[in-house]
Amino acid sequence: MQIYKVGGAVRDRLLGKPVTDIDWVVVGATTEEMLAQGFRPVGADFPVFLHPKTGEEYALARTERKSGRGYGGFTFHASPEVTLEQDLIRRDLTINAMAEDDGQNLTDPYNGQRDLEDRILRHVSPAFAEDPLRVLRVARFAARYAALGFTVAPETLELMRTLSESGELEALTAERNWKEISRALMEEQPQVFIQVLRDCGALKVLMPEVDALFGVPQPEAHHPEIDSGVHTLSVLEQSALHRQPLTVRWACLLHDLGKGLTPQEEWPRHIAHEHKGLKLIKAVNERFKAPKECQELALLVGQYHTHGHRALELKATTLLELLQSFDVYRRPQRFEEFIAACEMDARGRKGLEQRSYPQADYLRGAANVARSVAVQPLLEKGFKGPELGEALKRERLKALKAYKEAAAS
Ligand code: CTP
Repeated sequence: MQIYKVGGAVRDRLLGKPVTDIDWVVVGATTEEMLAQGFRPVGADFPVFLHPKTGEEYALARTERKSGRGYGGFTFHASPEVTLEQDLIRRDLTINAMAEDDGQNLTDPYNGQRDLEDRILRHVSPAFAEDPLRVLRVARFAARYAALGFTVAPETLELMRTLSESGELEALTAERNWKEISRALMEEQPQVFIQVLRDCGALKVLMPEVDALFGVPQPEAHHPEIDSGVHTLSVLEQSALHRQPLTVRWACLLHDLGKGLTPQEEWPRHIAHEHKGLKLIKAVNERFKAPKECQELALLVGQYHTHGHRALELKATTLLELLQSFDVYRRPQRFEEFIAACEMDARGRKGLEQRSYPQADYLRGAANVARSVAVQPLLEKGFKGPELGEALKRERLKALKAYKEAAAS
């Protein structure tokens, strides 16, 4: 048997990037031979094994044929006769379809190295279409390597468009989609992920609520970029530049969905878009089964981001309601993430990226003031149950009024 390093490990070494996990392909071996050498099988009918010591993945060279719709619809053919070239041709991109032996000799039948040098994400063969998830994968690689100058080859974008229009994307599971989406949002330029999905018509299928933002104008005085879709991409870009966590990036992507529902006669204003957008945010959250903390933050940011921007003008009662809605007493981190998302929203406006955002410190300060109201003196006065809650609220309101006055003077 011959063993080769394949896929991302070869690509990233040639790019001079750190290699995190290594995939191997084994040519000329049978399942029995692998088991005899101590490899552990990954699944019952999947020709993939884990190395007994390193735990790395070793797959028998295989060909794949699509036998039905969606991810389940595959038949595999793995046998010692399958060649390295046959295994590589079924892979997604030319830059992912190179193999290397232990002497670092490259097998590159589909010119991956040339595409790597030319900064092109190009599909290997029509077999690309056998896994529609690859539409998202290509967009994710585009987001990761945009800074290096990579773009999607026109013929690959065309194939992605055909796949998007064919209804194949609907067959993907929420889990596989979320895995790609969440990884893509954590890439260096997540806005490129959304842009590429839009360019090939996949955004309309996967997140029509986000797609609908493009072409919707906002008032130029607040939003020099005007277009709501362009704004959303910039907010996402800022979230990556400021190294925000996934929760914040997800909230940034979804914060303005309500603007896509504004009747055209009301443009460029978007009255109550925060509230109108909530059902859309909920729908996207559920479609991809996003983790609870992502879902929660997206909804809160959707509902309250304008409050964040207007923090300094909010009445003390409104400020208190905001803090209560976030439960800043028990969930300080979540409020920090809300503040971050609001700041990214403010910075995601053309020409205003560097403008300071004093609302952030003001909101932080307000949360601290509300948190520092002590319960003990109220208990000592004999308050309990709902009355204690009311008394606490009154004290917090008093403290916030003083905070607001001090900030204004
Ligand atoms: N692959 C593919 N189609 C997929 C998934 C994977 O063709 N839908 C192939 C590619 O050759 C890829 C390899 O399997 O390089 C390993 O896949 P994976 O580990 O998911 O990705 P990597 O390319 O290693 O990239 P990453 O850095 O994102 O892990």
